[in-house]
Amino acid sequence: MKKIRKIAILTSGGDAPGMNSFIRAAARTAIANGIQVVGIEEGYAGLLAGKFRDLSNPTSVSNILTEAGTVLYSARCEEFKDPKYQELAAYICRSNNIDGMIVCGGDGTFMGATKLSALGIPTVAVPGTIDADVTSTDYTIGFDTAMNTVIEMVDNLRATCESHARCNVVEVMGRNAGHIAVRTGIAVGASAVAIPEVPFDEEEAIEKIKTQRLNGKRGIIVIVSEGLPGYAEKLAKKIEEETGITTRFCVLAHVQRGGCPSLEDRLTASEMGAAAVERLIAGKSNVVICKNDGKICDVDIMKALTLDKLYKGKLTEEEIAAIPPEDKAWMDERCAVLKARTEEYYRLANLIR
Ligand code: ADP
Ligand code: F6P
Repeated sequence: MKKIRKIAILTSGGDAPGMNSFIRAAARTAIANGIQVVGIEEGYAGLLAGKFRDLSNPTSVSNILTEAGTVLYSARCEEFKDPKYQELAAYICRSNNIDGMIVCGGDGTFMGATKLSALGIPTVAVPGTIDADVTSTDYTIGFDTAMNTVIEMVDNLRATCESHARCNVVEVMGRNAGHIAVRTGIAVGASAVAIPEVPFDEEEAIEKIKTQRLNGKRGIIVIVSEGLPGYAEKLAKKIEEETGITTRFCVLAHVQRGGCPSLEDRLTASEMGAAAVERLIAGKSNVVICKNDGKICDVDIMKALTLDKLYKGKLTEEEIAAIPPEDKAWMDERCAVLKARTEEYYRLANLIR
């Protein structure tokens, strides 16, 4: 097993609050183990451009815990999908004596990590995305803070809805997943929540809003996931037409990626950052650090990506048949747990509205 003397860290894809806690924990864990550590600015684009920053001094990651975003910056890099640029990246790593890489991002970032691992650069991935749409892990860095931001923003909307007896339909992020929407929908007391995973009964929701108004409810909030593109605006018009309640619509958008990282994000990001370095020291590569049932573990990235596609219905029959039976059993169980969890939150959102 090759001794790890120098590691590099990068953040990629959409930034997420808590990424700085991850960077700090990874850098400090490396330093504590006598390993030199460099940060790469702007994700894979920065790797190709050689944008390295030495982090071997513990003070280089001081005072970053409380900031959202990522001090290493993030970027999306289309070129990196091209094998020619992946080879170049591996060459740059070797030329800079990098014995291991840690990348933090979503499933796109993990794809990049598998390429680097295959080219002989041991790489460990850490899930950093507000969307929590990485199927192999219960938790992704940024999810908790983003949801807290949503509830803070919607609580503010609630006041004006109440004052003017209006409805406000709010579109929240999450890419193709309704995890943010369904949880914040419960937390803000929404009258309806629409997510991509469960069919939304529009007529039933509108009837409910009518009844609530008849019962004296003034302010009405509806949460819609961005995974239903364009639906929030359409629904706002329909609610106004059918109920006569003045209805506004808003998209919370990138404000959800800001905010002071919550305890949960700081804690999990710190655990994951330390675990990533420890996995590299232990000789592991091509794994993603996960947190399931409250425990840190690691999952082979290819297995994690296959599971993700299985859950999202992106595998052909042949691809599903090619999954080794022991992996398939684990994947089926994981998919069932996640599906049941989302459906239960959806049920609750509609029960206690
Ligand atoms: P996220 O990591 O949040 O899912 P993206 O899907 O935008 O965000 O991916 C982040 C970056 O990961 C991309 O800009 C690209 O550099 C890299 N990446 C994505 N897909 C691949 C791929 N198939 N092969 C290599 N690199 C990839
Ligand atoms: O993946 C995080 C995320 O914020 C999603 O919720 C959203 O769909 C997307 O990124 C927005 O991406 P961009 O930064 O390219 O606008």
